[in-house]
Amino acid sequence: MNIRLHDGPLADLETDALAWPLANGPSLGQAVDAQVASMRESGEVRGKPGELTLLHEPKGLQSRRLMLMGVGESLDASQVFSLTGQAVRAAQKRRFKRLTIALPDGEFVRVAAEGCVYGSYERPKYKSGDASVPLDEILIVAPGAVAASFDAGQIVGESVNLTRRLVDTPANDLGPVEFADMVESMGKAAGLEVEVLDESALEALGAGSLLSVARGSVRPPRLVRLTWNPAHAVDESHLFLVGKGVTFDTGGLSLKPAKSMESMKYDMAGAATMFGAITAIARLGISQRVSCLLGLVENMPSGSATRPGDIVQAMNGKTIEVVNTDAEGRLVLADALTHAVRLGATHLIDAATLTGAVSVALGSVNIGLLSNDEALSAHLTATGQTIGENFWSLPMNDDYLEPMKGDLSDLRNAGADRKAGTITAAKFLEQFVDATPWAHLDIAGTANLDKGLPNAPKGASGIAVRTLVRAVESWPKGAAG
Ligand code: BES
Ligand code: ZN
Ligand code: ZN
Repeated sequence: MNIRLHDGPLADLETDALAWPLANGPSLGQAVDAQVASMRESGEVRGKPGELTLLHEPKGLQSRRLMLMGVGESLDASQVFSLTGQAVRAAQKRRFKRLTIALPDGEFVRVAAEGCVYGSYERPKYKSGDASVPLDEILIVAPGAVAASFDAGQIVGESVNLTRRLVDTPANDLGPVEFADMVESMGKAAGLEVEVLDESALEALGAGSLLSVARGSVRPPRLVRLTWNPAHAVDESHLFLVGKGVTFDTGGLSLKPAKSMESMKYDMAGAATMFGAITAIARLGISQRVSCLLGLVENMPSGSATRPGDIVQAMNGKTIEVVNTDAEGRLVLADALTHAVRLGATHLIDAATLTGAVSVALGSVNIGLLSNDEALSAHLTATGQTIGENFWSLPMNDDYLEPMKGDLSDLRNAGADRKAGTITAAKFLEQFVDATPWAHLDIAGTANLDKGLPNAPKGASGIAVRTLVRAVESWPKGAAG
């Protein structure tokens, strides 16, 4: 599909549909403006976010249809992202060929490009006869728009969709090895250095915690490292993005009930998110050193699986009693975080579908944010806010670690009950970051959409990729610490 910036009078555009925001939309000429005003007065069109009204043969326009897009009181970045994606999906569903989106000016051109690409996402195809038809052409009319911002938006949108495609792929087609192979080829194509550690390399590193999760599966684990090391890096900071990549989580011997297991192919969303983010960072040529570590394993029950009560030793030397094999994400991240610290991380951010408890606390509205560093968490929250990705900070008192202090071992991988599950998981992770400024994103409630939205089908949401890319682009000066 071809998305382009276009300049010229809206009334003259020959297109199948002209999408137009009901707040801050540019004038379309007296006749249509009056028609829209009367529809609003009668209450037929309310302009609520997500509302879509199609007018045929609008007066004075060359466009065959006018697509009125509700956006609430006024247009902001978050609304532009949603409306552009919704317009693309609506046009595609109706088999239009050409869509034009009218914006008042160039301010939101980047999110508009992101939104169009996001809206055109196609899930991996498994259904026979499933032939969705992409649009031939999308034009964005945004007077004064900067072409570089538009290009950046397309790159970021494509990276978000890359994350979504990985998450939506069933686990029979995406185990740790397939995931690592994919990341290796796509990472290299994006200009990243790639290193893939296999089982024996992980044994040599003493990654006993990560390996304990992989033991039950016939599919071997991988730890993938991607590096973006620009010659023109602006400072000495070296951020590591660490992702939980459990390609399928059965719970292991602490087996999940069937209903809870159904969606567990998305338990690698943290790794897919970090991969999407670093791909965009490389393709955008951001002047900041960033690496990525993806812990890829499959959590299965079998005769070789780790048993509840087994004690394993993590890469940093700490011993862990695995009281629940379903609390496997923290075991994977423990070693990945230790490895990142040893490789010289000055800052750490991890993303993981870590706990069911985060959905209980925050639903699918906010990402759970847990951190040992106020500046880093504030930067992520503020960055997310500019584009409508919500992060909510949860407390990190040391008291929350108590239930995981071991009797036979240094740590247990779960507390005695379900209380504060998201926080206790984060306190466990904190034991592996030393004093490095670190933020943990629990995306278990937000990475997968149970129901479709106007701009997305059900399935992977791709959440956090756009925030992470922006957080690196606007990395606080002097963050080298
Ligand atoms: N992958 C799950 C968390 C999860 C649950 C993600 C629901 C997405 C939707 C994780 O590995 C897990 O099972 N966590 C347990 C931890 C518990 C055993 C301490 C949980 O949340 O129940
Ligand atoms: Zn689990
Ligand atoms: Zn899991």
